[in-house]
Amino acid sequence: MYDVIVIGAGPGGYEAAAHAGQMGKKVALVEEKRVGGTCLNVGCIPAKAWLRSSRLYRECGEAKLFGVEISSYRLDMPAVVERKNRIVSTLVRGVEGLLKRSDVEVLSSHARISGRNQVEVGGKVLETANILVATGSRPAKPPIPGIGSEGVLDSGTVFELDEVPSRVAIIGGGYIGLEFATFFSEVGAEVVVLEMLPQVASGCDGEISERLLRVLERAGITFKLSCRVVGVDAGTVRFVSGDGQPGSYTADCVLNATGRVPVVEGLGLEEVGVDFSAKGIRVDLQGKTNVPGIWACGDVTGKHMLAHVATRAGIVAVNAMFGGHDWVRYEAIPAVIYTHPEVASAGRTEEDLKAAGIPYKKASVPMGVAGRFLIENEKGTGFVKVLTGAKHGEILGVHAMGDSASEFIVAAVALIEAGVPVARAGQVVFPHPTVGEALREAILQVK
Ligand code: NAI
Repeated sequence: MYDVIVIGAGPGGYEAAAHAGQMGKKVALVEEKRVGGTCLNVGCIPAKAWLRSSRLYRECGEAKLFGVEISSYRLDMPAVVERKNRIVSTLVRGVEGLLKRSDVEVLSSHARISGRNQVEVGGKVLETANILVATGSRPAKPPIPGIGSEGVLDSGTVFELDEVPSRVAIIGGGYIGLEFATFFSEVGAEVVVLEMLPQVASGCDGEISERLLRVLERAGITFKLSCRVVGVDAGTVRFVSGDGQPGSYTADCVLNATGRVPVVEGLGLEEVGVDFSAKGIRVDLQGKTNVPGIWACGDVTGKHMLAHVATRAGIVAVNAMFGGHDWVRYEAIPAVIYTHPEVASAGRTEEDLKAAGIPYKKASVPMGVAGRFLIENEKGTGFVKVLTGAKHGEILGVHAMGDSASEFIVAAVALIEAGVPVARAGQVVFPHPTVGEALREAILQVK
């Protein structure tokens, strides 16, 4: 009899399993592919590895601005893929080591819940006190004729490319679409992003989304907004523009980046009566489903599809299932888009505060107020915005665009989580010279 069987070894599942193992519990982790999940194998990590190579390639062209002459350089795509594979393998081995050290039994098979306390794995029924479902998500396939055809790549299959396409059409201007648009554009492809909404990165702070769009356009990416894709046929994407005009774009690579959907099928959820829909398994702040002993965390719950949220939610679920008092605080979840420049945010957006009728103050400073930003980014642009409660000065949201934002946003997360008022936050000593000093300047500017 296990204390917990975790289904799915992504950042939600493997961290939860290791945590339970370290608590001395008897744990099995069932995974049908490689441990590490989407994030490590075909998501966050490979995408950022590719983006590091594309940034360096672009920077070689800009080296003169730093006083460095590079007479000849070229992109070696197979080597880019090889570097990405090496990083992924190292991290997969790291996860395997963690699981081993934590006494987690890893079962390489498909798992299906066959009863409230039973999981069927490879034809064998295992008994367990708790089940944690952490099966993640997969790329969405909207009902567009041709989108499922072989030539259309998604955020997983795109990593099978070993040469740079010359024309890329990306359907969807969300996180995935924008990150791959950055990569392909930096390595020299002509890139067109077709987005249904009138803005990119919807859900982000409006000012960030507008300014990011302008910067990416200046970098050479073409955006077609308010543009409905109506079909894909052998590399030709047909669409209807905002003004109702039909159009088409022919590319040698079409990428479907229209979102992700929770993996809820084939798990036996309906048989045991777990409350779920195509949007995910319904859970409370601790990851409890409506069925006692069955828990869920991460993308499969359809909430904040981010690896770091999955990790925290998995640990909370394990703590809660063994009597601990813990829950996920959703008010300070950081989110990063790894475009060049990066975008990082935490807390509420201005749109959000206006809609909720919450009075707020704001201050915004250019990233260039931090000397280090000018040193690091010869042609860089960006800003940091801080939103605080009008009456008590509590920090409600921080939104930043500019490289290194992903590294200093954690300071904003800590200030929001700990409820530090803006006056007190202004007394915190930031190291100098760092890009993060732009955050300090914005904090000091809130009047
Ligand atoms: P998304 O939901 O962020 O964006 C999808 C975009 O596609 C939306 O803007 C939507 O309006 C558009 N769209 C949908 N159907 C369309 C159509 N027929 N024609 C044109 N546009 C259409 O989803 P995305 O970018 O695929 O990312 C999925 C998830 O993965 C997100 O929840 C995101 O948080 C996560 N992710 C996080 C990353 C990070 O933290 N850096 C990186 C990549 C993904």
